[in-house]
Amino acid sequence: MSTVSNFQTQIHSQIQVKANFDLSSFNTLSLPCIAENFARFNSMSELLLLLKYAKTKQLKVKVLGGGSNMIMQPSVSGLVVQSAMQGIEKLSEDDTTITYAVGAGLNWHQWVLKSIELGAYGLESLALIPGTVGACPIQNIGAYGVEVGQIIEEVRGLQLSSGQWMTFSAAQCDFSYRDSIFKKQFKNNFLITQVIFKLSKVFKPQVSYAPLNTMAEQFLAAHDDEPLDQKFLTAKQIAGWVIEVRNSKLPDPSKIPNAGSFFTNPIIPKSQADELLTQFPNLPAYSVANKDSVLKIAAGWLIDQCGWKGKSLGLAKMHDQQALVLTLKSGASQQDLMNIQQAVQADVKSKFGIQLQPEPQPFN
Ligand code: EPU
Repeated sequence: MSTVSNFQTQIHSQIQVKANFDLSSFNTLSLPCIAENFARFNSMSELLLLLKYAKTKQLKVKVLGGGSNMIMQPSVSGLVVQSAMQGIEKLSEDDTTITYAVGAGLNWHQWVLKSIELGAYGLESLALIPGTVGACPIQNIGAYGVEVGQIIEEVRGLQLSSGQWMTFSAAQCDFSYRDSIFKKQFKNNFLITQVIFKLSKVFKPQVSYAPLNTMAEQFLAAHDDEPLDQKFLTAKQIAGWVIEVRNSKLPDPSKIPNAGSFFTNPIIPKSQADELLTQFPNLPAYSVANKDSVLKIAAGWLIDQCGWKGKSLGLAKMHDQQALVLTLKSGASQQDLMNIQQAVQADVKSKFGIQLQPEPQPFN
């Protein structure tokens, strides 16, 4: 039963499919984009109604999260759907762990703050990462020594091609650096509805990342003479420091359009890294877990060395505080983004022989 009025199709009392919907404020790069059709869903039954509608109208379904890791194309065909499901449900608990199922539509940072409030620890280092809970497994978000794949127990959702409900264990998600099965075999074919997190009831501070380590040392030194209970680091404190570090390096997307790190840190053969290190002894190169034959190189350093930090091209600019972050000025187009992306890639390739790969995925 559907009624059409003013480019809006009411397919159920709660769901509206909006035609020619402007997505420019639904992506953190603020790129201009019009979706042929757009709808949000509040429940599994609404989602099923939307999928039925898409099938009847022969519209390809495309899933949008927080729009913080995508390069929107000027127009997107089919039906763009976005989850508004934000429930947090406790599934189980034992002496040391607590497991929650969280709706894909919840804002990631809100969930991190809520988990701390609930006394469920492990996500502190991932504070302030833009995006939604549903998007976090796709690129295995990570920061300050923690990757979300270490804390995820399961990912639940729906395979779009078959309409089949599926659950992936953490092992089946095949997490690695900024990668998962949802960027490979299930790319563009899986709608995540819920993520299950196994968190710790015992707080263990993760301060291996240098700036956080310095902050922790300063804090402990300043509390040297105080009672023992005031010397302890708390999860709230670590989250606060992470927010401070991020704010000092990364632009706020609500003020300066950006998608966080624009390129992934390249993983190259150790032999190639050793050669580069003889020529560039300051090159930041890190080991990769379980992979002895490769090293991960700091793409921000490579871009910085090519003179791109704070440099503009057209309406795009590599950020002053972190050369890895591509920012856009008001009115920038996909072409501005592409121009600077290609120029940076060409310079890094010619100076270091390394091909940088963009982290955000095209959405069209
Ligand atoms: N560096 C420079 N110049 C720059 C930027 C960085 O010399 O302009 C050097 C730094 O001095 C440092 C090294 O490069 O020695 C690494 O820099 P940083 O610690 O800022 O981390 P990153 O490797 O650039 C990664 C993640 C970030 C995450 C931080 C902290 C990727 C692609 N990015 O950045 O994640 O917050 O580590 O863990 O892995 C994101 O994915 O959007 C993101 C912000």
